Formats: sequence, C-alpha cells, structure tokens
Amino acid sequence: MLNFSFQNPTRIHFGEGQITAISHEIPLDARVLLVYGGGSIKSNGVYQQVSDALIEHTWFEFSGIEPNPTYDTLMQAQAIIKAENIDYLLAVGGGSVVDGAKFIAAAALYEGNSEGNDPWDILAKQQVFTKALPIGAVLTLPATGSESNGNSVVTRDGNKLPFSSPLVRPLFAVLDPSVTMSLSDRQISNGVVDAFIHTIEQYLTYSVNGKVQDRFSEGLLQTLIEEGPKALAPATKGDLEVRANIMWSATMALNGLIGAGVPQDWSTHMIGHELTGAFGIDHARTLSIVLPAVMKVRKEQKREKLLQYAVRVWQITDGDDNARIDKAISLTEAFFETMQVPTRLSHVDLGSKDIDLLIERLEQHGMTALGENDDITLAISREILTQAL
Ligand code: NZQ
Ligand code: ZN
Repeated sequence: MLNFSFQNPTRIHFGEGQITAISHEIPLDARVLLVYGGGSIKSNGVYQQVSDALIEHTWFEFSGIEPNPTYDTLMQAQAIIKAENIDYLLAVGGGSVVDGAKFIAAAALYEGNSEGNDPWDILAKQQVFTKALPIGAVLTLPATGSESNGNSVVTRDGNKLPFSSPLVRPLFAVLDPSVTMSLSDRQISNGVVDAFIHTIEQYLTYSVNGKVQDRFSEGLLQTLIEEGPKALAPATKGDLEVRANIMWSATMALNGLIGAGVPQDWSTHMIGHELTGAFGIDHARTLSIVLPAVMKVRKEQKREKLLQYAVRVWQITDGDDNARIDKAISLTEAFFETMQVPTRLSHVDLGSKDIDLLIERLEQHGMTALGENDDITLAISREILTQAL
C-alpha cells in the first residue's frame, strides 16, 4: 500500500427528514446564501423544507446554476455576496450546484496573483488560494461525491476544468434519499454510472496490495450493479432502500476513502470532460463511452486488476485469463446498456471526424500524460477514442 494521509471532516446527516439538521449546523448569526439550480427543488418540496429549517436564519438566494456549471453564471453570485455580506453558502442540488458553490466560495475571497485577480486562474493555472467561504450541502442527486469532497469542475467557453482544495469541502452534507424520488430515469442512470466509474478509476490500476481499498471498492461496484437497475424498474423505483444504497455508494465512491493509499487513473474522466466541453454530453454519458475503450486499450497494463475485477465483481471463473477479461469488459458494457447510457461515440452521433478536436483540447488543457502511470499520451488517447467509435 502507498503512504497516505486521510481526513474527511464533512459531517453527514443521512436519512429521511434530515434536512431539518441544517437549522443547527449553520450558525444563527451567519448571513447565508442558498444556491441552487434550475428549480427542481421548488417542485419537489426540497426548497420548502430548506426554508422551514432556515426560519431563524438570515438568508438570501442565488439560483440558475446549470448542469456543468459555467464561470459566467457563477461569477454573477459575487454581486449579492458583496451587497449582503454573505459569509456562508448552502448548496442545494446535484453535483453541479455543489461544485458551483465551491467555485463561488473560493472566488468570493480570492486575492489573485501577480498577473491579476481573475478567479478563473484557480482552474486554468491551478492557482492556489488560501481562503474560501464555508459551505454546507443538501444533496438531491447521488452521483459525484461532491457533497463530501474538495473537488469542483467548472466550464468556461467550452473548457471544462477541475480544481481541488480542502478549503471548499462542505462542512456538512444532508443526504435524504427520499428527495431523489423526483429524479428522471436519465439522472438516476447518470448518477449510478458516475459513481461506478469513480470507483473504477481508483481500483482498476495496478495492485499495491491495498486489500481494504480493493474490497471496499468491489463492494461499492457490486452494490451499484445490483441496485442501479432497480432504481429504473417500475416495480422497485419507488423503493427508498434502493435509493438509500445508491446514495451512500455514490458518496463513499468519491469521499477520499477508497482512493487513499492506492494508485488512481482518472483518464476516463479527463477524456470525458473534453466530450462535455466540446459537445455538451452529460458527464456520466461521456464516461460510459470512454471507459470500455480504456479497458480494451489498456488491457495489458491493467491485466492483474482486470482479472481481479472479473472474478470478484462479476464472479467469472471459467476460461483462461484473456477470456475472463473480455467477458468482464462485455459485462461492464451490458451493465451500462441496462442503465440506458451510451457506450460508443456513434451512440451520441459523433464519429472519427470529431476526434481531432478532442485531442487538440486535451493537449491545450495539458492532459498529455494521463493514467496511473502518466503514460497515456495523446497518441494513446486517440487510440482510446478510436476504439470508442
Ligand atoms: O438544476 P435543477 O433544476 O436542480 O435540475 C437538476 C439538473 O437539471 C436535476 N436534479 C437534481 N436533483 C434533482 C433533479 N431533478 C429532479 N429531482 C431532483 N432531486 O438534475 C440535473 C443534473 O444535475 P447535475 O447537478 O448537473 O448532475 P450531477 O450531480 O451528475 O453533477 C454533474 C456535474 O458534476 C461534475 C460533473 O463534471 C458535472 O459538471 N463532477 C463533479 C465531481 C466532484 N465534485 O467530485 C466529480 C465528478 O466526476 C464530476 O466531474
Ligand atoms: Zn464523475
């Protein structure tokens, strides 16, 4: 196992009715900005529950954070933060809203560098910042793990870039699985697939004998394989326990625990971000297209872990090593198909003519040495995208 330091200080309030917890989590003297998206929280009752919980607080609101949040939208929050002396952000929504709140929190107190003070530098130049407003989160879409990690992804002019800092990790997060009942099938699928691939990106590398991390990851993958389809099936989609298991899996998949002390890949995500940035494809749907191709192109480098994945996650014990690996890859694709997400570029109307632009963007964003060994060059990314046609 590799050396690591691990701390996850986000306090989780899990279960039905837990939105009331925000009333005592946020200090009474705070000046709170509630940030949310396009309005789903108004139609499913979450906004009302949050308003009720904040009855004794002084609060304001900023809405309109879009899926794949943009710099331009997020910067508009700065005016109300200044005008109302906001000192606490409450993000209520999916990963885009929580990610958006993180950028707003860092931008509000950003002091700049010698070249200026545009907070975009936090992403474009990975500029370090030393302060951010405190954040709390009420999660409405299990997928990203953003509710208890320090990561955020923001888009500007087609450039979708990540940043990470412990300063923007939410202090607390409310996870009430009942609020996920209003999700569309598409958003449920996206969430399950995103969480599955977060687990894979921290698992499917090379072995460092991290037995705890491996077994935890395999448990998360199996839970998502079992519960994901149930959340789409008419007979079980209303089952709160199914939703609870998906919600907790998604948080655990990217809260730092399973990735501590093991190598990580993230090539699927970095290539996927270019597909969203250039063509607007949903985050998870870019991943379900790229991952099977990564598994195929990196079969030799990932051989040992692919075999472990085949046996422990899919219980494949027949055939030689190659047959087991091929079967595991095809079962992964079949799982994505059951979850109704695309597995080929052609499924989203893209073809070989689009690959040049994606490679150009990867180069422009410095994504030239991806993977657990930093050896996925632009040429190999091209091979992966070609494999995904
Ligand atoms: O905007 P509203 O009206 O709220 O509607 C949203 C949005 O249209 C809707 N929704 C959310 N909760 C709902 C609901 N509709 C009905 N009922 C509910 N309970 O769902 C739509 C999509 O929401 P979004 O927040 O965009 O989805 P998701 O949680 O999948 O977040 C995706 C974003 O997170 C980033 C992605 O790149 C993408 O920008 N990621 C963040 C990560 C992180 N912070 O660690 C890691 C991930 O790999 C990912 O990159
Ligand atoms: Zn993701």
